[in-house]
Amino acid sequence: MSSRRVYMDYNATTPLHPSVQEAMVRDLEIFANASSMHEDGRKARGRVEEARKAVAELIGCGDNPEQIVFTSGGSESNNTVFATMFHLGRKGPRRGIITSAIEHPCVLNAAKWLESEGFPVTFLKVDEYGKLDMSQLKASLGPDTLLVSIMAANNEIGTIQDMAEIGALAKASGAYFHSDATQAVGKIPVCADDWKADYLTMSCHKLYGPKGVGALYLRKGAPLEPLIRGGHQEHGHRAGTYNNIGILGFGQAARLAKEELPEYARRVFALRNKLRDGLVAAIPKVRVNGHPVNVLPNTLNLSFPGAEGEAILLYLDLAGIEVSTGSACASGSLEPSHVLLATGVGPELAHGSIRFSLGRATSEEDVDYIIEQLPPIIKRLRAMSTVEA
Ligand SMILES: Cc1ncc(COP(=O)(O)O)c(C=O)c1O
Repeated sequence: MSSRRVYMDYNATTPLHPSVQEAMVRDLEIFANASSMHEDGRKARGRVEEARKAVAELIGCGDNPEQIVFTSGGSESNNTVFATMFHLGRKGPRRGIITSAIEHPCVLNAAKWLESEGFPVTFLKVDEYGKLDMSQLKASLGPDTLLVSIMAANNEIGTIQDMAEIGALAKASGAYFHSDATQAVGKIPVCADDWKADYLTMSCHKLYGPKGVGALYLRKGAPLEPLIRGGHQEHGHRAGTYNNIGILGFGQAARLAKEELPEYARRVFALRNKLRDGLVAAIPKVRVNGHPVNVLPNTLNLSFPGAEGEAILLYLDLAGIEVSTGSACASGSLEPSHVLLATGVGPELAHGSIRFSLGRATSEEDVDYIIEQLPPIIKRLRAMSTVEA
């Protein structure tokens, strides 16, 4: 086991940024309930509202912070939108749901739930780079379409969709438009208005903030059925005592992300490309997954034919390198990544894929270390494999 640790799994989660941690610790002494009327309660509420403004500014709606509803994270935000559609679709004439085949499981499974309840659901195809099939989108939209839900950027391969175009099409058909922007926020510019989004999902722990806090942007006038009923917090959209500390962390994480986005993106993109070029040069037959240009600056997904992803991951872990495979562990059996399968990568190659997701602390030395460590691992695994590279 190597004493050196290289963390390259920032799409899974990020460490707390010191200034976020500081902001949270500073606020620990204000323990009052942010709904209380007394002075400490008002003080706590004031800080929550400052954080709401910072989160709103990150997605270009700083003038209307009331459009931000705090939640427990991306999964809850996405599920709230689908639950809302359940209620609307049961009562109204529109019931069609359009989403993509490469969404995060919390969207895919919410869409499958609606399907099991009798809603017609279309899972749009993507091309070999993970880009949405726009002609299929156009053909699928109709007078009964209730919701179009498309992720802004994919968590596994990093492909970024043409959000403004998709939003315009969805709105022109009279449907609601939702985007799971969990992986996009803080990595690329996001503007809810430009995308014509009715709903937009964010999660704080992808942004160097704490886990267990997220937000749902809600366009003025867009309906929302609470997933959690109770008190009047969040204008009745989401009950429960305010998670002050988490929310304040989110506020600081959002400020930081907004301030530093251009420099962050430029730096990690250069490192990502260096890693890609170094590995492609050193290892024969590497396939680079995801879009060559419209891709998150920090995300690199590679397939290594003839080597198994879980084995690569374990050998890398022994060398102190922490990454993810494109596979998800579903009910005890290792399923190949639904994202890679949707891009036309066969199950064998999908099983031999690794996601490197870089972040703020990634250094040139980290990249060099992986370029040094990975080629002999792939060579060894290929030599043991019965599958041809
Ligand atoms: C694209 C995407 N959507 C949603 C989520 C879920 O977010 P959370 O962990 O905050 O529930 C994730 C987390 O991995 C994600 O990558």
